[in-house]
Amino acid sequence: MVSKNNQIMQRDLDVIWHPCTQMKDHETLPLIPIKSGKGVYLYDFDGNKYIDAVSSWWVNLFGHVNARINSRIKEQLDTLEHVLLAGFTHEAAVELAHKLVNITPSKLTKVFYVDNGSSAVEAALKMSYHYHLNKGKRKPIFLSLTNSYHGETIGALSVGDVSLYKETYEQLIIQNMQVAVPVDQSIEAANVALEALENLLKKKATEIAALILEPLIQGAGGMHMYHPEYLSGARVLTEKYDVHLIADEIMTGFGRTGKMFACEHANISPDFMTLSKGLTGGYLPLSVVMTTDDVYQAFYCDYNEHKAFLHSHSYTGNPLACAAALATLEIFEEEDILGDNSKKSDYILKALDKFHSLENVEEIRQQGMVTAISLKGYDSKERVGLKIYEYALTEGVLLRPLGHVIYFMPPYIISYEEIDKMIEVAYEGIRSVSKAD
Ligand SMILES: Cc1ncc(COP(=O)(O)O)c(C=O)c1O
Repeated sequence: MVSKNNQIMQRDLDVIWHPCTQMKDHETLPLIPIKSGKGVYLYDFDGNKYIDAVSSWWVNLFGHVNARINSRIKEQLDTLEHVLLAGFTHEAAVELAHKLVNITPSKLTKVFYVDNGSSAVEAALKMSYHYHLNKGKRKPIFLSLTNSYHGETIGALSVGDVSLYKETYEQLIIQNMQVAVPVDQSIEAANVALEALENLLKKKATEIAALILEPLIQGAGGMHMYHPEYLSGARVLTEKYDVHLIADEIMTGFGRTGKMFACEHANISPDFMTLSKGLTGGYLPLSVVMTTDDVYQAFYCDYNEHKAFLHSHSYTGNPLACAAALATLEIFEEEDILGDNSKKSDYILKALDKFHSLENVEEIRQQGMVTAISLKGYDSKERVGLKIYEYALTEGVLLRPLGHVIYFMPPYIISYEEIDKMIEVAYEGIRSVSKAD
């Protein structure tokens, strides 16, 4: 008899083209149909369960089917499911915007709603370019860090630097330049990179609208981490050279790095901050661009179609998504999430001690609730991450390595017992691809 998992998989493969996937891989690699979720677990149709160690692409904070978030969405559903946000507003969007202004760095006083991460990046880039234009300056270039990732739409892809995603579309992209990211988490590396940034700004700043970066952790670039000193220095330099600073906190926001926002580690206030993913606790697509009064005022005038920011998306500020976000922020308000996370991340790092003795482990790094292990001795054709992914699934853990980087980014509600299991499976997975034995 064909299992229920297999039945659904076949019906899926008949019609669905999956994201970020070579579909032919599924001739041999089973797709996993998920029936339900609860807490840190995802359950398939054949009775298997998996610890979601990557928070379903870094979005989930307080577990799947969280009672509090569910009830808030249900309440909203019976009140108002959606309304356009131009000419109209609704209570959940208003309340959420006030909360976001209160908890983000001090100069961020305005909230522009969007509906997914890449679109927030697009909106921030356009706003920055348009701001300078409204001030009488043409600055068509965006600066970003080597190895960065900001999404897949053309503008967001243009400021990214992961060749796997970008190279093919090279002819389509908008004007961009990259400057070296600090090579590691040391303060020395941050200072070297800041020198390179200043050298570049000295020459090119008059043409550069903004520097966009992922503060402290470059996610899709293999969980590469750097020192907060780089953020402080980049803030000083961007101000000095009249270049905006866009902090893309789509992955790092909402406690992932150990503070509510990664910018807090350096005590900086950027000109733009993009937020999504954890914003709704991992429930619904929503994103925002936060910006300053200075930026807002540059667009504020009697109607002039060239000066207004005529950018919109149909589902901008969706009420159900705003309700999920409000419930998520209430959990942060009422519980010591960051304090509990700090204990959990210490525990995770300590438990990884024994990984150092594995011959194929190159480095272990951590920033808050993101811990990464990079492996050595493989070339990209070996697809070692895929092997570990497959192994971990058979053991009930959803790990989704980035090339040869294995990482943990679990929902914050993960228990110590579940952490032990997640780590043990990763350990055995890494051992299973070792070439030493
Ligand atoms: C830092 C960063 N920016 C932007 C994005 C794009 O967000 P989305 O996938 O919602 O378009 C991502 C997604 O992983 C991200 O990590």
